[in-house]
Amino acid sequence: MSTATATATSAAAYQKCMMPACGATYDVGEVHTSCPACGALLDITYDWDRLPTPTSLRDFERKWSRRNEPLERSGVWRFRELLPFAPDEKIVSIGEGQTPLHPSVGVAAYVGMNPGRMLLQYEGMNPSGSFKDNGMTAAFTHAHMIGAQRAACASTGNTSASLALYCGMSRLMQAVIFIGSGKISYGKLSQALDYGALTMQITGDFDDAMQRVREVSKRLGIYLVNSVNPFRLEGQKTIMLRVLESLNWQMPDWICVPGGNLGNSSSFGKAFHELHKLGLIDRMPRIAIINAAGADTLYELYEKRGLRWNDGAPDTKIIDGYYAELDAASERADTIASAIEINRPVNLMKCLRALQCTGGVVREVTDQQILDAKSQVAANGLGCEPASAASVAGAKMLREEGVIDPDEQVVCVLTGHQLKDPTATVAYHSSDQNEFNRVLGSRGVNTATYANRAVQVENDLDAIVRAIQLNS
Ligand code: F0G
Repeated sequence: MSTATATATSAAAYQKCMMPACGATYDVGEVHTSCPACGALLDITYDWDRLPTPTSLRDFERKWSRRNEPLERSGVWRFRELLPFAPDEKIVSIGEGQTPLHPSVGVAAYVGMNPGRMLLQYEGMNPSGSFKDNGMTAAFTHAHMIGAQRAACASTGNTSASLALYCGMSRLMQAVIFIGSGKISYGKLSQALDYGALTMQITGDFDDAMQRVREVSKRLGIYLVNSVNPFRLEGQKTIMLRVLESLNWQMPDWICVPGGNLGNSSSFGKAFHELHKLGLIDRMPRIAIINAAGADTLYELYEKRGLRWNDGAPDTKIIDGYYAELDAASERADTIASAIEINRPVNLMKCLRALQCTGGVVREVTDQQILDAKSQVAANGLGCEPASAASVAGAKMLREEGVIDPDEQVVCVLTGHQLKDPTATVAYHSSDQNEFNRVLGSRGVNTATYANRAVQVENDLDAIVRAIQLNS
């Protein structure tokens, strides 16, 4: 065990290197985005025996009658006994996590599931329109605990929108965000600008921006809120707690989630591992992580090259070799699902651990499959952005492969709202072939399988009436 720079901590919550061979620990009052001793990611770890933990998940129901209190109303902090790193008075909450779980008969039919077996966890209902608020409230709270004045992130758009919102709402810190050029949807960019974030648009893509923000935040001492920040993942655990709550504390069979930087999947794995350890659940769901085919590092490493967590001793040569190949071919991530256009996922190790813990699988889906699935999600009443629909496209693929049984219970996480990225949606439904080709053609999307085209009609009453009768 490497203890050179580790901090002795007597607190019940502390930071701990995720690699069993190191295991160095640090106080929660310190700020690290990797283990100072060995460079690996850190976990927030709890000495549960010394904490007031629930004896049953049903214990959380008593909070429902206290929803007038901000921390009990928050879909994150009403579960704070399971992420007990912050004193109540330091928690910064803006009412995040009021998100529903919808059974969708139409999406079940599209995916090939039996009615009632397909559920959509709609994280687009968060204040900034994506699941990011679950993690941001936790990281922001930690930043506030340690007295940070500025907070930074690199982003494909949703993390930055969320950070900018928390900064704007609380007035506690300035947001400094890094985005790649031409790689962010207007919906997301408009949020960061409107909320007043200092917005650095650098030449390059997300992977470049991620590398730079790490360097800059280190040099200028700015608090980093990307999901390398272990506190972010504590907040994201609660997405799964709300799924269980909606299912009357019954465990679903599958959780399908898009894979980008792999923070969500990592946090879900941690949530289930901890619940199991605490005796609050007796079985795990299986996690299915879905990459876009144009940004498929996890799929390549896990399904094709056999990379495994291996109880904390993964074969890192497989990773180094693949990244060297990407560099040699100057290969960049490229998908219409811009939120997950990432080739070097920072949470890869934690995600491998989650895959081992839950018997998970990884798949990749094409942009065509993503947009078709997205249109079917929306046609059934819940709009999502392209990246989110990867979860549904992946569930359909796993169903067709026979990996998922039609009678199993599947939860797909819809990570971001439809209005985040309307460009692809409008092009998909456009009757203008040039517009379709301009936005989608280069992505290998050939057909708008479920297009709902606007009817073009002259401004004449009879013509309009005729057109409605013809089309309805
Ligand atoms: N879905 C949406 C809508 C996202 O914005 C992201 C990530 C993901 C899925 C992937 O989640 O990283 O936990 O695997 N967006 C980040 C951002 C990268 O900067 O907003 P993950």
